[in-house]
Amino acid sequence: MEFSTKIAAPEKHPTACVVVGVFESRKLSRAAEALDRAARGQLREILRSGDMNGKTGSTRMLYRIRGVAAERILLVGLGKEKDFGERQYRDCARAAFSAIRETGTSDASVYLAELQLDGGDAAWRARQLVLAAADAGYRFDQMKSKKAEPLPLARITVSSAQRHDAPALERGVTEGRAIAAGMSLARDLGNLPANVCTPAYLAERAVKLGREWKLAVEVLERKDMEKLGMGSLLSVTRGSHQPPKFAILRYSGAGKKERPVVLIGKGITFDTGGISLKPAAEMDEMKFDMCGAASVLGTLRAVAELKLKLNVIGLVPTCENMPGGAATKPGDIVTSMSGQTVEILNTDAEGRLILADALSYAERFQPQAVVDIATLTGAIIIALGHVCSGLFANKDALAQELQTAGAESWDRVWQLPLWDDYQEPLKSNFADFANIGGRPAGSVTAACFLSKFTRKYDWAHLDIAGTAWKSGREKGATGRPVPLLTTFLMKRAKG
Ligand code: BES
Ligand code: MN
Ligand code: ZN
Repeated sequence: MEFSTKIAAPEKHPTACVVVGVFESRKLSRAAEALDRAARGQLREILRSGDMNGKTGSTRMLYRIRGVAAERILLVGLGKEKDFGERQYRDCARAAFSAIRETGTSDASVYLAELQLDGGDAAWRARQLVLAAADAGYRFDQMKSKKAEPLPLARITVSSAQRHDAPALERGVTEGRAIAAGMSLARDLGNLPANVCTPAYLAERAVKLGREWKLAVEVLERKDMEKLGMGSLLSVTRGSHQPPKFAILRYSGAGKKERPVVLIGKGITFDTGGISLKPAAEMDEMKFDMCGAASVLGTLRAVAELKLKLNVIGLVPTCENMPGGAATKPGDIVTSMSGQTVEILNTDAEGRLILADALSYAERFQPQAVVDIATLTGAIIIALGHVCSGLFANKDALAQELQTAGAESWDRVWQLPLWDDYQEPLKSNFADFANIGGRPAGSVTAACFLSKFTRKYDWAHLDIAGTAWKSGREKGATGRPVPLLTTFLMKRAKG
């Protein structure tokens, strides 16, 4: 899908479809007003007839309206004017593109970014249009023997009649395009089955991303990890026939002396639970256990495309968690790269074990901040459902930044506590601490475990187990939290 911007009168735009909004009160948006005038009141006529009620997300396609250059007009309901905010705007954008998807429309000129609302500015509105269109157009048919017909909608023009909107629209579309491409990469990687998306495959894709976007990429092998003393990470891969990998990606958008932001993504390409084997039901979804890693790659792609003036390092520790004759057993004790020993009471709490050593590895970059992203606990789904990701941080200002970036991008997070009280259940009789706490506050004790490896820098942890993919009929990776992370980095880069 191609995206561009244009300043033009809506009635004169020779496109397959011009998209405009109407409110429930029958008030027309500025662009709808212009079309109505050119069409000598035909739009108002349709509203009067009751065929379009203007409710949020309702749509009506009109064909060959006299006086209007476009082949089609898509009316999109905006709901009540007093309620019109960011949520309604996003719903309307989504509704518009799903209505277009049902038709043979090849190109659309969308006049929705002109709509003022309480919240996002014109650039935000343009960005949301691009993201909604990209989402409606996303397909994953790599593994099907027969590919789906390509979507007719190939070109989208984010349009306005007002010249002064031009710079904001351009900026919003550029941002949207980069975030959408990053999300699409993250979704593809997440959706690939674990027999294709192995640790070696993920590392290879990191190398390829580096070639495409001029990132310096290095991949550590098992022997390198042994030398570094990554006993915690290596304990997870013991049952697998797939060799573990550890990819390091460097994006340099600022001076050499500028301290980087480090992103660390959990890259378990399949999580069987290991010897603490998971139940069979829905175990297929554990191919998504590398969505943290995928979001790091997707974000780096977006950051590189946007040429952000910032240094960013991506760390992708990746392996499989399998049972087997050599697999780690409950009760085994390992020494992490930090020197701290861990009693592995449950081999299914493996994400924190690979992150522990990656967090220690991050120290060498003297980071300005470290954010890890992980499908870490089922418990976060019990706490927060699929709406927002869990946020934990050892620095309030960093938590606040991520919270703000999440709200702006509608890729939201909610902070949970990291109080010392929650360290208690990790106590071990045999090692420095255990890798699980028990059922109560499972997401918090998991974050507390990670916090033992993050004493040297500002750190935040995103538990994305509830947001990285959808189950059921719409099963598939969502591309979250690429929007949140990219927005966070865009803001850091400006300062
Ligand atoms: N990858 C899982 C977390 C997960 C489970 C995400 C279900 C989404 C859906 C993680 O490695 C895991 O197994 N966590 C355990 C921790 C427990 C053993 C303390 C969990 O959440 O059950
Ligand atoms: Mn697990
Ligand atoms: Zn896992």
